[in-house]
Amino acid sequence: MTEAKKRVLSGIQPTSDSFHLGNYVGAVKNWITMQEENDAFYCVVDLHSLTVEQDPTLLRKRTLTSVAQLLALGLDPEKCTLFVQSQVPAHNQLAWIMECVTGFGEASRMTQFKDKSQKNGNDRTVVGLFTYPMLMAADILLYQTNFVPVGEDQRQHVELTRDLATRFNSKYGKSFVVPEPYIMKATAKIYDLQDPTSKMSKSADSASGLIDLLDTPEVNTKKIKSAVTDTGREILFDETNKAGISNLLTIHSALSGKSISELENEFAGKGYGDFKGAVAEVVVETLRPVRDKTNELLSDGNHLASVLKQGAEKASEVADATVKHVYEVLGLIPRA
Ligand code: TRP
Repeated sequence: MTEAKKRVLSGIQPTSDSFHLGNYVGAVKNWITMQEENDAFYCVVDLHSLTVEQDPTLLRKRTLTSVAQLLALGLDPEKCTLFVQSQVPAHNQLAWIMECVTGFGEASRMTQFKDKSQKNGNDRTVVGLFTYPMLMAADILLYQTNFVPVGEDQRQHVELTRDLATRFNSKYGKSFVVPEPYIMKATAKIYDLQDPTSKMSKSADSASGLIDLLDTPEVNTKKIKSAVTDTGREILFDETNKAGISNLLTIHSALSGKSISELENEFAGKGYGDFKGAVAEVVVETLRPVRDKTNELLSDGNHLASVLKQGAEKASEVADATVKHVYEVLGLIPRA
């Protein structure tokens, strides 16, 4: 019996010059796996990135670089639908509808909004940061999504999306699939190399703890060799007492496919220097083809443009049908 494929949707912001190892191992690697068995839609969410002021030239470049990296890492436009959010106007159309069914109170309770607006102060917080979750709900609901692969930090937004879908369905009749968060577990959570108790993140104080996918082999080798470790000498996985070594073991394991215990055996009796050298080699050899492929894709603008055109067309087809239905049940009159 063949079961209908499940619809999957996720998004990533084009806000850095390169994805980092945490993005890859924590998110994109799952996207690549999920494109095999599901009907997956993956979206570079450029509209979301506008909640922080962006330099137009940089944004353009980063959006294309994001797409190129996703392809280089293994997303296959024949298997999934890869597109840029702003190229599918249905996202804005449904976002407004979502804003009109979201309570001010429930939007005010979103912790990401609270954290970011508190940090920047009211006068430096744009309204788009407040309505960000409703745009995200639109991203998800437009595609009648079953599963939303996200990190734990986005769970609340997916829960809000579920509430909005349920509310809309009960008022206007079944219009949306109620999506489930698919929380990408910390099976391979990657930490900052300099501060192995915080998540690898581009907002870290220093770039020295961050492995960028597009950095040169020399830079990444140096970063791994200067990763913080403890004063012991054993290569063992122990997140409490040996956070740095544990993080390097996780990185090696995620990229080489060897289990942690296999690695512990392999490096029994060897020193930190040898181990770091081996981690650096796995990282560099994994990223080399990704970097080369990304640059190759970026040098052929026509190819990238045609991938995006195809993605936007496939996405629009599904998204426009949802908007059409939603407009109709709301009582909006279709254009003659
Ligand atoms: N808010 C998500 C993040 O910052 C990105 C995102 C936007 C997203 N729209 C989405 C994720 C829809 C999943 C589904 O990581």
